[in-house]
Amino acid sequence: MFKTRITEMLGIEYPIIQGTLQWLSRAELVSAVSNAGGLGILSALTFPTVKELRQEIKKTKNLTNKPFAVNVSLMPTTRPVSYEEYISGAIEEGVDIIETSGRSPEPYMKLLKEAKVKVLHKVTRIRNAKTAERVGVDAVTIMGFEAGGHPGINDVTSLVLIPAAVDSIKIPVIASGGISDARGFVAALALGADAVLIGTRFMASKECNLHPKIKEWLLQASETDTLMIERSIKNPARVMKTDFAQHVLEMEERGATLEELLPLISGQRGKQALEKGDINDAVLACGQVVGLIHEIPSVKEIIEGIISEAKLIGQRLYNIGIRI
Ligand SMILES: Cc1cc2nc3c(=O)[nH]c(=O)nc-3n(C[C@H](O)[C@H](O)[C@H](O)COP(=O)(O)O)c2cc1C
Repeated sequence: MFKTRITEMLGIEYPIIQGTLQWLSRAELVSAVSNAGGLGILSALTFPTVKELRQEIKKTKNLTNKPFAVNVSLMPTTRPVSYEEYISGAIEEGVDIIETSGRSPEPYMKLLKEAKVKVLHKVTRIRNAKTAERVGVDAVTIMGFEAGGHPGINDVTSLVLIPAAVDSIKIPVIASGGISDARGFVAALALGADAVLIGTRFMASKECNLHPKIKEWLLQASETDTLMIERSIKNPARVMKTDFAQHVLEMEERGATLEELLPLISGQRGKQALEKGDINDAVLACGQVVGLIHEIPSVKEIIEGIISEAKLIGQRLYNIGIRI
């Protein structure tokens, strides 16, 4: 019923992909998404070594026999990272879908294509979507300004970016940023996307290993409770609006240097804050769609809810004369 170019390409039941969540995209969450008919994505750089990533892939395979992917974020990091080794490790473990993000995957395309891997690449600009198509990726995820994480420098929302991407490239477009339920799902498909990629909503799921205190914060947050920081270092990030994030923003406004900012915005600091459940000890990524999240269901309930509600939306559209 939900057959699209993406479900066909990836061998999944529903065109619903779980967005990579640094420190949180682990075997339990990823396998739950895949078992529910979507595509889970492990975050390679959550694991300090390739050996640990390989163990997590093995663990995921024990929990699901459905397809899942590995994300390799190519964004500059403070620690030296061999992206080739992470990619090769995933390939050797039999992973055949890899998502890249952060920078062009061009240097790794030969390695990926020789291994017959399907490559999904995440971008925030149409220019980068075209480049990704040119260098041979199989599908492009376009991420709007609403999204949690790094939604790019141009501040263009999903409602405009998704159809712009669909008009600009021939390969399938995956819509991300601001999607949490059937309404966003149907809207993205109506805009021409072949699938949706959902991040923040899956943070607030039973299987996501997120500290209960942070899950509580997500439940009480509204759509205005996120903040853009790191514009001064040209790597804008949408994060939870907390005193800590506001302090970072004030430092940026006062002209703080990268050296001054780094200890506050480092990924390791985020990891520790997530473990402690302390939202005021690091900057933590979160999308505007948090305002639509009012409960912590299981992943299966989220995905089945989207699918069953989508059918009702189809009926509603039909009733007002939109024949789909
Ligand atoms: C906590 C968190 C961590 C994220 N980590 C990554 C990451 O490591 N790599 C990446 O490509 N995207 C990352 N993202 C972006 C998501 O994969 C996804 O593109 C985004 O959340 C979609 O927007 P939404 O939050 O509105 O659903 C992260 C987002 C969040 C909220």
